[in-house]
Amino acid sequence: MTARIIDGKAFAAHLRARVGTEVARLDAEHGITPGLAVVLVGEDPASEVYVRNKGRQTREAGMLSIEHRLPADTPQEDLLVLVQSLNADPQVHGILVQLPLPGHIDTDLVINSIDPAKDVDGFNILNVGLLATGQKCLVPCTPLGCLMLLREELGSLSGLEAVVVGRSNIVGKPMVQLLLREHCTVTVAHSRTRDLPEVVRRADIVIAAVGQPKMIKGDWIRRGATVIDVGINRIPAQDGKTRLVGDVDFESAREVASAITPVPGGVGPMTIACLLANTVTACCRANGLPEPRGLSA
Ligand code: GUN
Repeated sequence: MTARIIDGKAFAAHLRARVGTEVARLDAEHGITPGLAVVLVGEDPASEVYVRNKGRQTREAGMLSIEHRLPADTPQEDLLVLVQSLNADPQVHGILVQLPLPGHIDTDLVINSIDPAKDVDGFNILNVGLLATGQKCLVPCTPLGCLMLLREELGSLSGLEAVVVGRSNIVGKPMVQLLLREHCTVTVAHSRTRDLPEVVRRADIVIAAVGQPKMIKGDWIRRGATVIDVGINRIPAQDGKTRLVGDVDFESAREVASAITPVPGGVGPMTIACLLANTVTACCRANGLPEPRGLSA
């Protein structure tokens, strides 16, 4: 068997186009433009790239993009004051504070100071609790993107065995909640799991989010499983350059899986597309308008 390659890049482009259509409709029918504010503290090169891409794709979708770049030594109090001003700004429907923050800043305090209705990352404890209890909320972008790809590939997920490898607040834990909502039987595995290969072998759905290059091998994967690789790891290449690989050993896994996401071009492009979708969802809720279908979980 050679797995079908799940084209996250194409799906994300389709989702961004859908967002663009909704943005145009909000303007034409209601004179409203969804606005996304992104706050970057410091000069982490990877974060710089993400923030640039977010700004570009936000503008391309016809939305208002607001960027705040603050020096690495910004006092925590100044950041909290900025978040409060964005909370109060009616032009801003979504707020994202890029992580990681510098060490002197209390990340939880900052994230929890964001208005939950504008928390398009879904990291605020109110949204975490709403997701865990199956209530309407804003869902973290990367797990939301994984779920959209799974639904597209498999249709109903009900009754399937899902193994999530990784337990981060950004991906693993919210992914577990989303899969439970879809009626999967969910196992969470992590770095201290005994006999990880045996646990992964149970899965109809494998979500790999551990941050270890090519850790999950083909012989860990059940024949016919669907594999979603969230990893983005940079490793040395033969020509002295670097290349991106996932958490799954793609070459061996594709021989046993029925479908698999590549790295790059799988889950990665879905994250920003879901961020734009969450901003439109937040904008509609803030204005008491019906939510467009297909943009939220
Ligand atoms: N840093 C890496 N991924 C993310 C993300 O999804 N949201 C935020 N705010 N920061 C990140």
